[in-house]
Amino acid sequence: MSAEPLEIHLEEQDLARGLRDDVRVGLTADPKWLPPKWFYDARGSELFEEITRLPEYYPTRAERAVLAARAPAVAELTRAKTLIELGSGSSEKTRLLLDALTRRGGLGTFVPLDVSASALLGSTTQIAADYPGLRVRGIVGDFTRHLDRLPTGGRRLVLFLGGTIGNLLPAERAAFLTGMRAALEAGDWLLIGTDLVKDPSIIVPAYDDAAGVTAEFNRNVLRVVNRELGGDFDPAAFTHVARWDATHEWIEMRLRADRPMRVRIADLDLDVTFAAGEELRTEVSAKFRPEGVAAELAAAGFVHRAFWTDPDALFGVTLARAA
Ligand code: AVJ
Repeated sequence: MSAEPLEIHLEEQDLARGLRDDVRVGLTADPKWLPPKWFYDARGSELFEEITRLPEYYPTRAERAVLAARAPAVAELTRAKTLIELGSGSSEKTRLLLDALTRRGGLGTFVPLDVSASALLGSTTQIAADYPGLRVRGIVGDFTRHLDRLPTGGRRLVLFLGGTIGNLLPAERAAFLTGMRAALEAGDWLLIGTDLVKDPSIIVPAYDDAAGVTAEFNRNVLRVVNRELGGDFDPAAFTHVARWDATHEWIEMRLRADRPMRVRIADLDLDVTFAAGEELRTEVSAKFRPEGVAAELAAAGFVHRAFWTDPDALFGVTLARAA
């Protein structure tokens, strides 16, 4: 079967409005911040794919190892008919689950949801070609806003992989999990990937690689603001910073102004000044403890079913069921 036309719940205008609001709020705040979702234009998505292949960036490889070992168990436990993936991107690791579920039999539909129509178009076309008989319905949407648009019925398994849940702040995470539970029916399943708390000497280099790919990824958000909102950021005048916050157990990415600067964002009629050394926070990537994941899932109305890690216990994958 060829992939069905994408269902668009997020139009270009919505994305543009979201960016405008976020940039206005974040760049006039003290300290300044921008949400990580704006990294991912076409170039940012490519840079992220490059990050996943870096020697220092362990999460992708570790999660792939878990899924390679446990996908058959996930298929056996869930016997899912519909597989939904949030923030699906290239859906590369998803194939391990598609393979296990199709081998077991009974999987009818794959529903990837992503903000990037271009990423979805690529992944749905490929997957429809590689899994004949599978119905592939791509949804252009934002997993923090469009969970109510997911297809209903038929023993669903929702994937939220890559550690992307770590981009949400604790209150946002609680709201997301509660919203997820509300979108599901009792008996549906959730499979979540979480990067685990470990020695910062392993975590920090994953966000500050020797080749400087993460630094370019980080600066890319300034290029997005320049292009989409008529900004005049000089990305080269910002230094990439990755800092471990031991209290919150998260890594923060920031961009530090190398000199005093005035930046004009023409489309917002906004002038932003930076002091020399001032930092703009561009991402929080939380790391988790197994008991913390279990507690957050329970609070949102899920029953913990299994927790698996890779052999080095770098990354965790949790299977839970809507109560
Ligand atoms: C896609 C959110 C899981 O937090 O590790 C990679 C993004 N940022 N390097 C992460 C990211 C810097 C990534 N997630």
